[in-house]
Amino acid sequence: MDVQGGYRMADLTQEVQGSAPADFPAIRTELGMRGDGAAPTKMKPGMETRVSPNAEFDVTDLDMFYGSAQALKNVNIQIYEKRITAIIGPSGCGKSTFLRCFNRMNELIPNTRTQGRVLFRGKDLYAPNVDPVAVRKTVGMVFQKPNPFPKSIFDNIAYGAQINGIKGNMNDIVERALRQAELWDEVKDKLKQSGLALSGGQQQRLCIARTLAAQPEVILMDEPCASLDPIATIRIEELMRELKKDFTIVIVTHNMQQAARVSDYTAMMMITDKEEGKRTGTVIEYGETRTLFTTPQDSRTEDYITGRFG
Ligand SMILES: Nc1ncnc2c1ncn2[C@@H]1O[C@H](COP(=O)(O)OP(=O)(O)OP(=O)(O)O)[C@@H](O)[C@H]1O
Ligand SMILES: [Mg+2]
Repeated sequence: MDVQGGYRMADLTQEVQGSAPADFPAIRTELGMRGDGAAPTKMKPGMETRVSPNAEFDVTDLDMFYGSAQALKNVNIQIYEKRITAIIGPSGCGKSTFLRCFNRMNELIPNTRTQGRVLFRGKDLYAPNVDPVAVRKTVGMVFQKPNPFPKSIFDNIAYGAQINGIKGNMNDIVERALRQAELWDEVKDKLKQSGLALSGGQQQRLCIARTLAAQPEVILMDEPCASLDPIATIRIEELMRELKKDFTIVIVTHNMQQAARVSDYTAMMMITDKEEGKRTGTVIEYGETRTLFTTPQDSRTEDYITGRFG
């Protein structure tokens, strides 16, 4: 098979069946498989077989429009509690738009409309009596580009807590958030220094700490490692694994290996309706990350993860 730079799905399948070729790609390591083609060995934390985790979000027939342009159509998915769910798919298919549906952030964009049902812990997230500001506090967001405020490290966190009405001893709140984001040891002696003086990876952990200071229950991450080097990326992934003990995480990523490394579940998105000036996306396949990467049901998923598309 002639594939440029992607994962060879036939090889992945052979691997599962026990006859891996010598140049099997790195993704098998991410999935906890043995290099000699033998049956999978002990899987990485979080990849182990689980019994029905609770659904944190239950999305039914979700549609989303920017003006008259439909960006999402008929999305049906459950996001599981204290698991990492990755959203993958080609540029423009609606990953960020979908992510913003989980904390009603699309409503900050004028002229948008969301229809269908999103339940959060069994309650309608879009019910008229639900305050979107409270939703955004409970369901925090970390963005692609680290965006610390031009303030001290301490104030970045304290501000994150204050605007979300978190009360208590601010020194304790700041220390706790920085420890949770695994940044404390690196910054404890320079809390008064500007957050902008940190490295890119540290800035992203500072932003994660700022999100954590608001005491969310879910963390949404939109390509959080896109601007980071491989070492900083691995740090964030380790942090995510740690955080999933306490939080449900949904991450958008363009990095297939990252999705395979960190996520328990993967949602594959694709543009399904394409006309002049219109591009509507949906989730075409969803399941356990391991299954989706090794035995995808949809040929478009296979094409995408093997690098033949997008
Ligand atoms: N603020 C906006 N106003 C109007 N249309 C938008 C807006 N944001 C996104 N869109 C449109 O919605 C569609 C999905 O965009 P979205 O940013 O969700 O895609 P994506 O999968 O996150 O892409 P990428 O991988 O490039 O980040 C695109 O057609 C895009 O042009
Ligand atoms: Mg995006």
